Amino acid sequence: MVERETWISRAGFIFAAVGSAVGLGNIWRFPWLTAQNGGSAFLLVYLIIVLGVGVPGLLASFVIGRRSKRNPVGAFKSLGGGRVWTALGGLCVVTSIVLISFYTVVGGWILRYLLESFTGAYFTQPAAHFDSIAFGTQAFFYQVVFLLVTVVVVMAGVRKGIEATTKLMTPAIILLLGGLAVWAFYQPDTASGYEFYLAFDVQYLADNFIAVLGAAAGQALFTLSIGSGTMLTYASYLEEDRSLPADGSIIALLNLGVGVLAGLVVFPLLFSFVGEPTGGGTGALFVSIAGAFATLPGGRLIGGLFFFTILLAALSSSISMLEIPVAYLVDEFDYDRPQATGGLFALVLGAGAINAFDSNVFEIVAGPIVNQLLTLGLIGFMLYTAWILGDEAVEEFTKGGGTIARTVGVPWRYTVGTILPLFLLFSFYTNVISLLGISLPPVAVVGLTVLTGLPVTGSLFQAGRPNND
Ligand code: PHE
Repeated sequence: MVERETWISRAGFIFAAVGSAVGLGNIWRFPWLTAQNGGSAFLLVYLIIVLGVGVPGLLASFVIGRRSKRNPVGAFKSLGGGRVWTALGGLCVVTSIVLISFYTVVGGWILRYLLESFTGAYFTQPAAHFDSIAFGTQAFFYQVVFLLVTVVVVMAGVRKGIEATTKLMTPAIILLLGGLAVWAFYQPDTASGYEFYLAFDVQYLADNFIAVLGAAAGQALFTLSIGSGTMLTYASYLEEDRSLPADGSIIALLNLGVGVLAGLVVFPLLFSFVGEPTGGGTGALFVSIAGAFATLPGGRLIGGLFFFTILLAALSSSISMLEIPVAYLVDEFDYDRPQATGGLFALVLGAGAINAFDSNVFEIVAGPIVNQLLTLGLIGFMLYTAWILGDEAVEEFTKGGGTIARTVGVPWRYTVGTILPLFLLFSFYTNVISLLGISLPPVAVVGLTVLTGLPVTGSLFQAGRPNND
């Protein structure tokens, strides 16, 4: 068996992990969520959730990955705990395929818009143009090209592929976005854009607190790439001498910074050149912003740079998604990397085609399915860390860290074992209930959460660490 790879440097790991985190979630989803949910007031709630739920969850993923030095399935198998937990690893592999199958569709759109920024193809009628290219054969074609680039990087390995490329891509994304934000600042009539984005609307927050909490929690998981096994797998290539809490906090803060920065590019531009945007979501990026480039002096160049930046961000994320099933096949079945990657290319192509051809499937997959899969995955990681790994988790958490890591280790274990999974379960139920179109008062959802969540947590707590079966 070939020796398992590790990252060359700490910076290499951080760039790869930030590259995974920074993606469409930051550039496309985050600014809109902020603008629609109370601006900078939402930012504050979001910051608390990222630090209070996201970072502890990220650290649970890191602990499992570095302790086991395996892909998600191998991790739970080798660390022990029984079949249910190995199945959780299997869920991660499934989640990763689901993620790539929709993400590469959007990656394809971005690739196309990058090229079309130079020809001006989307300039005259942005909305009609987007509608005509979003789904179908052409969408599939660009999806395949985007996927191929991802495959080539992952095939080259952890060091020569992932680390080598993300070390360039991640700083480039930050610099380019920073440059675009400065440039946007000097455009005329941008004040209302900043105001729309960063207005401090506490009233909105207060009136819609539960809904906002759910949205912020879902976004926190997606943007930090947690609950899918990506961060677990990346941490499995780490050596022991690094502080997980320090690296985790750096990654989360950089990711947050890029989200804020993206908003500082998008909104001033929109308001300066188009006026009040009509909707968020997919259309925002490909219709409203694209429309802004059409009217902008030098719009082809700026548009090209903008879509190039997003392309880098999307690629460094899709690379991290593909690494999960690749690591699984390499670790568990001894496939060599090119074989594993090639095989998965075919599989993802099949799953991806369904999303590229059917907009209804795409919308369900990209939104609710992914959200719920990530939430379930992270609940599992947290409970496993706290109750199955237990003391071992705290030991892994503090290894390579200083006084702070040693002080927060034990409190971290108990929060990821109790309150945080309950919070995630609550957000899971809230989403399911609203998807089913039922309306229940928040108290009822809290009741449901406590009734179903407490027995599970309680019995895990009592069982302590069972023998491997
Ligand atoms: N964090 C990525 C983004 O914001 C998406 C992602 C989710 C990547 C889960 C890997 C795993 O675009």
